[in-house]
Amino acid sequence: MVQFWCFLALLTLFTSSPIALADDAQEILLDTAKQSNASLLWGPYRPNLYFGVRPRIPRSLMTGLVWSRVDSYEGLQERFRHTCEQHEGMAGYGWDEYDVRHGGHQTIHDAGNSIDITTEFVKIPGGDHGGSWGVRVKGTPREDAPDRLITTVMFYAGIEGLGSLEVQNAPDELGIEGDVNLAGSSNELGEFGIRIAESVDNRHPPKQHPSYDGKPLDRTIVSSAQVPEGSLWQAKSVIFQKMKAEIDAYIEEYGQDNAPPPWSTFTLPNDIQEGNFHMTQKVFDGAFHVRISADNRKGVIADLSTQFDVIYSSSSAPTPVSPESLSSAIDRAKLIFSDRFSKLLAPKAPFNVPKYQPFAKSMFSNLLGGIGYFFGDSVVDRSYAPEYEEENEGFDEETAAARAQQGDVKVEGPSELYTSIPSRPFFPRGFLWDEGFHLIPIADWDMDVTLEIVQSWFNLMDEDGWIGREQILGPEARSKVPQEFTIQYPHYANPPTLFLIFESLIDKLNSKSAIPTTRDTLDPIRNAHLDEPSTALIYLKSLYPLLKRHYSWFRRTQRGDIKSYDRVAYSTKEAYRWRGRTDRHILTSGLDDYPRPQPPHPGELHTDLISWMGMMTRSMKRIASFIGEDDDAAEYAGIETAIVRNIDDLHWSAAHQTYCDATIDDYEESVHVCHKGYISIFPFLTGLLPPDSPRLKAVLDLIADPEELWSEYGIRSLSRRDPNYGTGENYWRSPVWMNMNYLVVKSLYDVATSESGKNPHRAQAAKTYRQLRRNLVENVFREWERTGFAWEQYNPENGEGQRTQHFTGWTSLGVKMMNMPDLEEAGRMEHGEL
Ligand SMILES: *[C@@H]1O[C@H](CO)[C@@H](O)[C@H](O)[C@H]1NC(C)=O
Repeated sequence: MVQFWCFLALLTLFTSSPIALADDAQEILLDTAKQSNASLLWGPYRPNLYFGVRPRIPRSLMTGLVWSRVDSYEGLQERFRHTCEQHEGMAGYGWDEYDVRHGGHQTIHDAGNSIDITTEFVKIPGGDHGGSWGVRVKGTPREDAPDRLITTVMFYAGIEGLGSLEVQNAPDELGIEGDVNLAGSSNELGEFGIRIAESVDNRHPPKQHPSYDGKPLDRTIVSSAQVPEGSLWQAKSVIFQKMKAEIDAYIEEYGQDNAPPPWSTFTLPNDIQEGNFHMTQKVFDGAFHVRISADNRKGVIADLSTQFDVIYSSSSAPTPVSPESLSSAIDRAKLIFSDRFSKLLAPKAPFNVPKYQPFAKSMFSNLLGGIGYFFGDSVVDRSYAPEYEEENEGFDEETAAARAQQGDVKVEGPSELYTSIPSRPFFPRGFLWDEGFHLIPIADWDMDVTLEIVQSWFNLMDEDGWIGREQILGPEARSKVPQEFTIQYPHYANPPTLFLIFESLIDKLNSKSAIPTTRDTLDPIRNAHLDEPSTALIYLKSLYPLLKRHYSWFRRTQRGDIKSYDRVAYSTKEAYRWRGRTDRHILTSGLDDYPRPQPPHPGELHTDLISWMGMMTRSMKRIASFIGEDDDAAEYAGIETAIVRNIDDLHWSAAHQTYCDATIDDYEESVHVCHKGYISIFPFLTGLLPPDSPRLKAVLDLIADPEELWSEYGIRSLSRRDPNYGTGENYWRSPVWMNMNYLVVKSLYDVATSESGKNPHRAQAAKTYRQLRRNLVENVFREWERTGFAWEQYNPENGEGQRTQHFTGWTSLGVKMMNMPDLEEAGRMEHGEL
């Protein structure tokens, strides 16, 4: 039956447009889409917080967790945790295991507060409104914690937009004994309840001060407020305001000399009211999860905690979630994750040993756990100032002046974005070129969520075909960005990495190797686009007009000039130049300070951009051909050939034996400007050099030469021999970056395994691949063990992680590398052993 409707669907799609499907086929597809959508509704989609759940709905329910050690007044304000911050005393944090469909568990090693917090979050399907969810919060004192470690933990929930949220418990001056219950409703969520479950087993601070009688801390404090629309993200300020009033009142009552202990003063008032924002606070003495079971006689501490659960139950679900059903959902999610991970992303030799397991799982889980939902307006310079054409010499000064004028800076939107992020503390928002890299491992796990994210990005496109490279949506996102960097410019591009994902989709559709079945009941809705090619067809067909618009925007706005400078090339059209370049930077290229021709010139041609365009064109060709747009496919094929030919004609320097940018010299001649490094191997990185290319040998030698790009920790961004090596900001001028290294690894692998008859460099590629893969993974692993974190980049001299901490975006490509084959045989072949 399924095959029949699928065939029907395909037939209809190929012969007619718009898309029409047989009724039952449509029903099945819709049902799958609905289930898939429901399973993605909830998540820790506020990745800028240590923990915060919201749905993928604008202006809706927002929740979050705040905690602090409160046994001394010293530095107390700085101890309150809410948003992820770098260097605030964390010995590592993040998801040990996380799956976007089920949930997972996170450990936060809060050394500064001497406690490890875990959040076990799971989704529980059922009902008509995207199901229910729960989180179990635990705290375990760290080894260096004092005997009496007192910790306060707050969980808050607020609602924006149309909808209500209220506390069900009767107000009580002394606080709430037992569970706290909230009830709410909104159009999208229907009716729901939130239960903050209390357990008798938790220990709370004993009475030490008369203030305790007015606010016994074995109860839960509940405090309400009305927060204006659009301000819920400032929850911590609301909490601090309320606490400050309480502290002042205590001081007034008892005086400085007889002030209550900090765990009593740093509390919210018991103040249940009507409002859209409700905070609950608990104060724990020591661990707040360990219950000594009957086994304790044997010295075993069994963890049977139900002590601090937050449970959201959709009223449309058949039964509300209980702490017991939460426990089984947590266990089930663990089993499913492990099973799925071992089948889809397990590290291969030599990393198939236990010590790499937690590392691999954590890197991948943080990539998935970084997926967030963002909603808000953005700031765009719509002046289209003529200076932005960058056509005159000295354009960098003209554009700087035009930008400073802020001619027509507009607030646009609001728009929404569903995306993963580079780094929770430092870059908790969408970055266009990062996202293509993020999705490479995610596509192996869950193609449907991958395509959902891709779609979300393309929905941001304007009428011209432009997508802003950094998505700073709304005031919360803007609060993390210096004002001058919040403005986006509609003539700025960014590497079109999302097109790598279309290639991955089509590769997977073409390869007959089925995805292994797992014990996950959600399997059919994770890869519907692979299981039923008609679904992929519908997806690509509906996205195709946007892709074309984006593609022609690139070709129109980032064009380079061949004819004005009498350049000789196979095609007179295919040359490219990044716009948005300044004296020292091309931020739009992603490789910010990589050395480029000096001074900036309108006759420049950029190797990396023409290579990206080659990749993008190839991807468009394959998409067009897959959906039956044969004329388009033929046109793209022609452009691809022109680009590949022009890369050699315009960018290959015989003198330097590498690919180079080009510019115009003082005699109005086109000349190469060569800086060996990532840019000079870009045609290779984007898969545009065939295995028998006469240029390949030089590229492979450059990569493997320790005097140039090779280091024990990965491929350097710039050659050691380049005069700019390690100079200036030194951002892309020596450090090892995982995204580019992944492209090196992948391209080496492709040569090493190519079945092309003429493949003279197979053995060399295999040998380099094998060593590079090991170096990269081992180094990121070592630094992760040493520091507790993944890093933005790695030092090529000693391997140390540097710059942004907790960079679990493209650094997580290590997981993909671990999952690639070791190519042992090829390595042995090189040594003449086979
Ligand atoms: C997905 O779920 C959201 C939230 O419930 C809803 O607004 C949206 O219409 C759904 N989309 C589809 C395609 O079902």
